[in-house]
Amino acid sequence: MVKSTKLASWLDEIKSLCQPDEVVICDGSKDEYDRMWDLLQHAGVATKLNPEKRPNSYLVRSDPADVARVESRTFICAEQESDAGPNNNWVAPSKMKDTLNSLFDGCMRGRTMYVIPFSMGPVGSPIAHIGIEVTDSPYVVASMHIMTRVGQTVLDALGDDDFVPCVHSVGRPLVEAEDVPWPCNPDNLYIAHFPESRQIWSFGSGYGGNALLGKKCFALRIASAMAHDEGWLAEHMLILKLTNPEGTVRYVAGAFPSACGKTNLAMLIPTIPGWKVETVGDDICWMKYGSDGQLYAINPEAGFFGVAPGTSMDSNANAMLSLTENCIFTNVAETDDGDIWWEDMTDEAPGHLIDWRGNYWTPDSSEPAAHPNARFTVSAAQCPAIADEWEDLGGVPISAILFGGRRASVVPLVNEAMSWNQGIFFGSIVSSEKTAAAAGKVGELRRDPMAMLPFCGYNMADYWQHWVNIGLRENAQLPAIYYVNWFRKDNDGKFMWPGFGENSRVLKWIFERSTDAADAVETAIGNLPAIDAIDFSGLDLSDDQVAELLRVEIDGWLSEIPLIEDYYDQFGDHVPLELREELRNLKQRLQNAKQAAA
Ligand code: GTP
Ligand code: SPV
Ligand code: MN
Repeated sequence: MVKSTKLASWLDEIKSLCQPDEVVICDGSKDEYDRMWDLLQHAGVATKLNPEKRPNSYLVRSDPADVARVESRTFICAEQESDAGPNNNWVAPSKMKDTLNSLFDGCMRGRTMYVIPFSMGPVGSPIAHIGIEVTDSPYVVASMHIMTRVGQTVLDALGDDDFVPCVHSVGRPLVEAEDVPWPCNPDNLYIAHFPESRQIWSFGSGYGGNALLGKKCFALRIASAMAHDEGWLAEHMLILKLTNPEGTVRYVAGAFPSACGKTNLAMLIPTIPGWKVETVGDDICWMKYGSDGQLYAINPEAGFFGVAPGTSMDSNANAMLSLTENCIFTNVAETDDGDIWWEDMTDEAPGHLIDWRGNYWTPDSSEPAAHPNARFTVSAAQCPAIADEWEDLGGVPISAILFGGRRASVVPLVNEAMSWNQGIFFGSIVSSEKTAAAAGKVGELRRDPMAMLPFCGYNMADYWQHWVNIGLRENAQLPAIYYVNWFRKDNDGKFMWPGFGENSRVLKWIFERSTDAADAVETAIGNLPAIDAIDFSGLDLSDDQVAELLRVEIDGWLSEIPLIEDYYDQFGDHVPLELREELRNLKQRLQNAKQAAA
């Protein structure tokens, strides 16, 4: 029941704009979830998987033109272009409103408008926020049930307070024409954000971050703007709980670009005896100061929307074990016995499959059976490694923050910042190869500062300044910051570092730095592990390879300097002076080191 007068009048407005046949206020119940799947099966877009293999689970095939986030159609509509910054596509709010008003006019004719009250974060947490998503997609309703907390408890918690209004339509009114299994409108795609009035409008896509508006649109783009104004942090980070053999606990957050290893790190099974990793979150982290001066983090999501290909019992057993029932699989392949498969799930591919497009597939086929951005959707509570405190209303205190990306060269395995500002500097210069998580060319190297390039709802350089300002709080107990790189390649193009569970060796060093139990050496680029400070025993790595992983590449870094200067110059005088100084100091230290070596 809608008691909020603000909500009621907003719904009236949206209803008369979109003109749906019917309006349903979602209650988040199992009945409602099942009803969505009846509709989706009837529409021919969802298949119920074999209940003996994968109870209560569904396979969905999207339109092949709607398979990932589309950054080129994502807009930040701030009043001033400079407030969106060169990192965002900008359109003036009034102009975008005009465009949206004509697109959304009658866009839900013949369809049902679902109203989803959802909470990002556990209901009642002082760090959580509430949104209302209006959508004409039953797939979005079902997905939001898993990914967020939906229903009456949210409306009760909302009272007459403000919420973030999120309007979504697949952009295909049902007039005369018959419906298609996955309606969408890729030629008229808009994912528009109004950071000042805190609104989201999304048209034309039903997939992932384009359509589940609580995730990237709200929890990152709008929330980053809220966090800027209110003095907290909304980040594209996993959160993990790390316990050493003595039972001491540390919480670590880590920002890696899309499809660069957050879910894997959040669920990793350490290869070093006695250590334990548990999951708090795998994609998004909201952090606020506690009265003790520590940053406390919550995972605003309730589920995982994870990259399927590459996930296996070898690479991520905790993800596989989360996926035994009650899941949604989108754009994966289907096996003969009504189950699912994707690349590298097993050593050998099944002899035949139905691929993500619905075509017959064999291992001889030239195309992958699952789309590279195929995803699983599952409740976080089903993860065997979920930390007990993952829903703690007050969040967990963060003692280390990792920044990383896919870099084949130059960036060492791990590098500790000597200060908060140097850590921000590291975050600001992260570059990474593009992945299939967004439409476009895969493999291209681009800067993705703090893994937020596609997700920062305002000028990126103002966001760096916000990070600097966060560090100025009196009595702040700031987390240590690390720049990590699991993706270095050798001359043959092979990954040098085994990654996955072996990343626990790096986590152990980071943990022991926080207890003063591990040594570091100060270098021109930051603090690197002292010889033997990281345990590499039992790995198939030669001494040369270890040295290479931890080498300070003076020339490589020196050639990065002008690229970073050019990059910063795009943002003009928005770049914090503190970061310009970090850059100058780095250059000086590198030049000194080069001279000393000569
Ligand atoms: P989003 O959900 O898009 O934000 O992605 P994510 O950051 O959670 O990435 P995820 O953990 O799903 O990993 C994406 C891909 O990166 C996987 O398919 C793995 O193949 C690969 N990957 C993850 N961790 C490692 C690692 O430590 N080393 C190597 N070489 N690859 C990794
Ligand atoms: C990402 O691209 O970082 C994702 C997937 O987590 S999506 O929800 O589509 O944004
Ligand atoms: Mn992500």
